[in-house]
Amino acid sequence: PRSIFFSRHGESQYNVEGKIGGDAPLSARGLQYSNALPALITDNIGDAPLTVWTSTLQRTIQTAQHLPYTKLTWKSLDELDAGVCDGMTYEEIEQAYPEDFANRDEDKFNYRYRGGESYRDVVVRLEPVIMELERQENILIIGHQAILRCLYAYFHNLPQADLPYIKIPLHTVIKLTPKAYGCDEERYTLPI
Ligand code: F6P
Repeated sequence: PRSIFFSRHGESQYNVEGKIGGDAPLSARGLQYSNALPALITDNIGDAPLTVWTSTLQRTIQTAQHLPYTKLTWKSLDELDAGVCDGMTYEEIEQAYPEDFANRDEDKFNYRYRGGESYRDVVVRLEPVIMELERQENILIIGHQAILRCLYAYFHNLPQADLPYIKIPLHTVIKLTPKAYGCDEERYTLPI
């Protein structure tokens, strides 16, 4: 059976600083993850074919850099656009836009950042990616937290209200194997 692998990019400089969005490079730990990832994947998949999908942001491309497979970049896999809040910490957002911050907490799935996107917007933008995923064989997606929450919720049929709170930790590969009903799941965390 074919599998779909999900991983967030390795830790980025912005992750270290607690800033959201942006296009920061990987931190030293993130680079360690990119170095360790090929062995984890090849141990798992053997010599079966695999294609790696990344976003257009450098933290996903860097994370994929040592993987010996065909790679494709998708603009549709870029992280949720935080609009005017891009590059801020959550504390800075709460200070600058207290009402928005409260509204997001109230309805995280539907909350749309000023000049940016909501989780609902991202679900719509991911439709073509999901269509293509359904037609493909083994795929590894090196993605972003909000994006992988949406894809994960699709394959596990999770409700919209829960989707923005799904835990997708760093430095962890999630392997989904679609079945007649639902998906089997395994997780592999690298001790980095
Ligand atoms: O902090 C990493 C990050 O991927 C941000 O770029 C993004 O805005 C955020 O996580 C999404 O998580 P949440 O919707 O919980 O703020």
